[in-house]
Amino acid sequence: GEDLAADEPGLDAHARKDRGPVSISSRCRAERGGEKYISRKNRKETTTMAMEYSEKVMEHFAHPHNVGVLDDANGVGEVGNAKCGDIMRMYLKITDDEIIEDVKFQTFGCASAIATSSIATDMIKGRPLSEALKLTNQAVVESLDGLPAVKIHCSVLAEQAVKAAVADYYKRKGIPYEHPCDGCEEGCCGHDHGHAHDHEEE
Ligand code: FES
Repeated sequence: GEDLAADEPGLDAHARKDRGPVSISSRCRAERGGEKYISRKNRKETTTMAMEYSEKVMEHFAHPHNVGVLDDANGVGEVGNAKCGDIMRMYLKITDDEIIEDVKFQTFGCASAIATSSIATDMIKGRPLSEALKLTNQAVVESLDGLPAVKIHCSVLAEQAVKAAVADYYKRKGIPYEHPCDGCEEGCCGHDHGHAHDHEEE
């Protein structure tokens, strides 16, 4: 759809002027009641564009926190969204007493994926691993004051990327680890569950 953004690296958020302003201006036009002047041909597109992004989403999209690569990461997770092809990579630096000392991410994806990665890294930085593993996409979405329903699937990436990075940390340490990928049956977090099928996240 219009949010297929795998070819637009999330790192370059500032260069992506197209999304936020378009949806805001479309919304303003709709609020003024301008919708009835839009031709039938354009109506579908306008309805789709007028997605309601919270201020927090726009803020984290425009100025994402913790972007980049952690050279001394000891847990790295990469996950892909089967639905849109977007990719998120999460780098964790975990101390011996299992505190997430530092975290960075790279997201090659849509505005919602970038915003959710950004706020998710804020939520786990400095926290114990056990807490980070409890991070749910619902909690991430709530911290962003919500996401449009059709964008909820984008928020799943952040939760999965954290879990994949933690799994990688335990693997590197040689510690047996029960993978906590609730409901994920396709190995979307890089963990091989032994089978693959389409994900329907929405
Ligand atoms: Fe792919 Fe949002 S459209 S993560």
